[in-house]
Amino acid sequence: MTQHSTDATEARPATREATDWWRDAVIYQVYPRSFADSDGDGTGDLEGIRRRLPHLRDLGVDAVWLSPFYASPQADGGYDVADYRAVDPMYGSLLDADAVIRDAHGLGLRVIVDLVPNHSSDQHEWFRRAVAEGPGSPLRERYHFRPGKGAHGELPPNDWESIFGGPAWTRLPDGDWYLHLFAPEQPDFNWEHPAVADEFRSILRFWLDMGVDGFRVDVAHGMVKAEGLPDIGGGDQLKLLGNDVMPFFDQDGVHAIYRSWRTILDEYDGDRIFVAEAWTPTVERTANYVRPDELHQAFNFQYLGAPWEAGELRAIIDSSLDAMRPVGAPATWVLSNHDVTRHATRYANPQGLGTQIRTPGDRALGLRRARAATLLMLALPGSAYLYQGEELGLPDVTDLPDEVRQDPSFFRAQGQDGFRDGCRVPIPWTVDGPSYGFGDGGSWLPQPSTWGALSVEAQTGDPDSTLELYRAALAVRREQPGLGAGDRVEWQEGVPGGLLVFRRPGFACTVNTTGGPARIPAPGRVLLASSPVTVADGHIELPADTTVWWETT
Ligand code: GLC
Repeated sequence: MTQHSTDATEARPATREATDWWRDAVIYQVYPRSFADSDGDGTGDLEGIRRRLPHLRDLGVDAVWLSPFYASPQADGGYDVADYRAVDPMYGSLLDADAVIRDAHGLGLRVIVDLVPNHSSDQHEWFRRAVAEGPGSPLRERYHFRPGKGAHGELPPNDWESIFGGPAWTRLPDGDWYLHLFAPEQPDFNWEHPAVADEFRSILRFWLDMGVDGFRVDVAHGMVKAEGLPDIGGGDQLKLLGNDVMPFFDQDGVHAIYRSWRTILDEYDGDRIFVAEAWTPTVERTANYVRPDELHQAFNFQYLGAPWEAGELRAIIDSSLDAMRPVGAPATWVLSNHDVTRHATRYANPQGLGTQIRTPGDRALGLRRARAATLLMLALPGSAYLYQGEELGLPDVTDLPDEVRQDPSFFRAQGQDGFRDGCRVPIPWTVDGPSYGFGDGGSWLPQPSTWGALSVEAQTGDPDSTLELYRAALAVRREQPGLGAGDRVEWQEGVPGGLLVFRRPGFACTVNTTGGPARIPAPGRVLLASSPVTVADGHIELPADTTVWWETT
């Protein structure tokens, strides 16, 4: 297997074109609260991230996306921002942010930060003043304040429900209601108000001037609401990562915002990007966000939700590529993030349970499929997103006691939903030590006692480990010209059901999702395999749930 240098100071040689780097980039998501804790207070921080950047350089990713580290009361893990230009003291200071950006650049890594424009925290200065000034305050126009319905205004202005459960409206003691698609601590901005648009253009410049290489746009499909805030009229309301048509999501008006943002980004040098978190009913609607004068990439949640089944995977891969081709944007691929059960646990459970799962399932099966799914993902044309800890094969922590949970959706949904804490448990770096090297103290969510064995330290140098599989895969991806490039997959037809075989010049990928072994002709020399394989007599016996990368002539 290909090994990486581990010198902590050396920058990786730039083997890629500097322009359009993002088209086939592998981007690693850091959830700052749970990545590395430099001061032993149990919560991750920017200095912790800075110190661990060499891990990401050695892993071989191109960029790091940092989930929010801004000033925030943490009602929703920092996706409730009180000051968009300040770092929360629990994460450090602007100087620490500057140090992360500089050190990352020094190591050849780009930095993408999260932008949360759909809503602020209820502790944002505008909202606090809007509340304090009372009905009629001009600041209330920057959010969605409305009188209620009913004889005494005691009913919410419409029937929308919060994505975290319960009504999407909260009433203030003065009688006005305000809209929050997420928690009550996350009031939605009114994007019709010019001050809101101006403020975000200024926030973009602030972080671009700090040197960031791009933004992940939170709830990018949500800022514009249908005219008059019409009732939905019964039926199922939306869940996180849902794809239904709603009067508060995927309204055509959002695209004007992105065209305006794009002109700002394009004023800056360095090929900077936007990636949209946009939940839309179809991949074709997602493509609207990445038209040439809008954003660069959008997460592919259809792929994230796909079952481990060859036919369905192929259909989603093809429809994703087909949808992006007309607008010239790369497809993206993602299996895990901070909002869903990790894929090692999703695949350990029966298919079709959705993206928030409470049972550990068959761990060995889940890990085998997860490793195979990752190799498939990293062989596809386009850009891939990794979530911290997946390179260790971490499962979700499915048995967190309710008392330690912090996900607001868990509480809003009376414990029936909102299991996002399970993928946010601080990651293990060392075999022993307090919080397995996460920090010198504890960790804000308890880590399972088995996590030392899954740590970076335990897996480094073990050729069978998931960490070395990721390192080797990313090394091959960097060295094999064209892996990740292009906009279509050349499938081999006529392969047995449950298998996928595709090729590109000099390379082939074979995937077995059947759950049993499958014997096929060997297309070349094995480069990398997600499980041990043997080739004999020009054939390979592909074990169940295995992906193999081949060098072909
Ligand atoms: C996005 C984030 C999620 C957050 C929500 C509200 O979906 O990924 O973590 O809760 O937006 O900001």
